[in-house]
Amino acid sequence: MIREVLQVGDPTLRKVCAKVTRFDGELSALLDDMKETLKKEEGAGLAAPQVGVPIRAVVVDVDEGYFEFVNPVFVWQKGEQTGAEGCLSVRGKAGTVTRPEKVKIVFQDRKGDRYSLVAHGFFARAICHELDHLDGILYTDKAKDIHDAE
Ligand code: CO
Repeated sequence: MIREVLQVGDPTLRKVCAKVTRFDGELSALLDDMKETLKKEEGAGLAAPQVGVPIRAVVVDVDEGYFEFVNPVFVWQKGEQTGAEGCLSVRGKAGTVTRPEKVKIVFQDRKGDRYSLVAHGFFARAICHELDHLDGILYTDKAKDIHDAE
């Protein structure tokens, strides 16, 4: 099911999200809906609070593939990259954000199994952007030169 993506100004986008403790059908349904919504919106990532559910779950769709990260936590962040970013919750805008070049995270899947992953480049940028959403942070808080997107 396609879910409505909340827009900046909605208080749910500013919440520090709760850790996921139940790996049940409700979580699976949410992740399925987030995947469907992300594909329809043609975005690189979507966090649960963006569809009104303030829990620590994100989905990312990049060249490396489609990923679901539940309770993701950074192990380390290295280097620096500066590039363009947008957000499905800030429609029509883009901005330049400096992020780590390479990150390692630990996370759980929808069943609760634990994994780790190293990402670099745009994949790392997408992870940083989505994990910020889980702490109520939008890229516009960090960007310089917010402007109208093409
Ligand atoms: Co976003």
